[in-house]
Amino acid sequence: MRNIGIAGFGTVGQAFFNQISKNHKNFKVIQIAVKNIKKKRKVNLKNIKVTSKVQELATNPDIQVLVECIGGSSGAAYKLVKTALENKKHIITANKALLAMHGNELVKLAEKNNVSISYEAAIAGGIPVVKAVRENLKYNNISKIYGILNGTCNYILTKMEKEGKDFSLVLKDAQKLGFAELDPTFDVKGIDAAHKITLLSSLAFNVPIKFSSTYIEGVDKVELDDFRFAKEFGYKIKLLGVAERKKDSYEQRVHPCLIKEDSEIAKVENELNAVVIIDDMIGKTVLIGPGAGGKPTGAAIVADLIDLNRGNINLPLGNSISQSKKLKNIDILDSSFAYFLKIVVKDEVGVMRRISDILARNKISIDQQKQEHSNKRGYATIVIITHKIKEKIVLKAIKEINNMKRINNKVKFIRIEG
Ligand code: HSE
Repeated sequence: MRNIGIAGFGTVGQAFFNQISKNHKNFKVIQIAVKNIKKKRKVNLKNIKVTSKVQELATNPDIQVLVECIGGSSGAAYKLVKTALENKKHIITANKALLAMHGNELVKLAEKNNVSISYEAAIAGGIPVVKAVRENLKYNNISKIYGILNGTCNYILTKMEKEGKDFSLVLKDAQKLGFAELDPTFDVKGIDAAHKITLLSSLAFNVPIKFSSTYIEGVDKVELDDFRFAKEFGYKIKLLGVAERKKDSYEQRVHPCLIKEDSEIAKVENELNAVVIIDDMIGKTVLIGPGAGGKPTGAAIVADLIDLNRGNINLPLGNSISQSKKLKNIDILDSSFAYFLKIVVKDEVGVMRRISDILARNKISIDQQKQEHSNKRGYATIVIITHKIKEKIVLKAIKEINNMKRINNKVKFIRIEG
């Protein structure tokens, strides 16, 4: 498995190429598919066939391993990977969107043709989490897998918190640094993290890949003063992907969370990612490392390639997809959390009382609360930390508060994890 084709020659494709050209000369890149064949590149592509017809790689009989770095869940990447699998080529991919959307079909095809789909690079960049779960931790009973799965969002949240920088400015920095997706709304809206947690959930719980079951919220509604209030109560704000298994059911979700500031992952900053795995034998395993950018992602592809060359042809999900479990998906409305509620109200007699009444009537218990003058004259900002309560109940109470006359903005809420 030494003859490689690379499809897509952007940040990740080039980083991978540089790493094997420099350090792993026993592998040979024989064909590369690029978008623009005329573009001047700094890398030496002598003796390599360069094409703009990406589908050629799927049928080139000399290619044994196809490294897919095009990205995107449909279109060129889907057609290429499908045809390459039909032609019995091993696939190494960084494409979480493709696997989250078409994984079941592609995994079935790989299993049928006795070839691998390796995707260490698709989840948490350089962190070897796929291998850790698929070949080790999966044999314990994993009850929860969660973490910081999007480097761009973690970078944005870190800079907003530490430097008080505006969301859109920091996003531009993350794009310049090569962390963000081609379409950065995939990052900020939580979709990229949702692709990743959907895959981790399948790996950990042996369930089919089901992206449509993942509840998704992004970081685009997090405001600068949320960080300050969260800190006052001892929390940090992180975008987490969470997959949790109950007896016969499981949930998959991505949303901003308040997490205790002394927890391991609260200290994970910038583009770093972190994955926490809870099982019944080891307890808690925490993996932390760079989750985005060319070098770490390229390194994950190199590791998959070397593994494959060693003869490690793994079932992509660790178990055959035909043996996956049928667990019921839990709707987030039926999950329970403690909540951070932020309410901007007219600073008048009786407003706080009215809010407390609504919460009490809905049997929502207040754990802590704080009130301060709002930026807007004559208004106050109230922040409440609730005890744990079902999501559908808190949403009902929020609706009632939003209907109060003296409310300035809609109530803002962030779930508290753990
Ligand atoms: N855009 C992704 C991120 C790249 O920021 O995490 C790595 O998957």
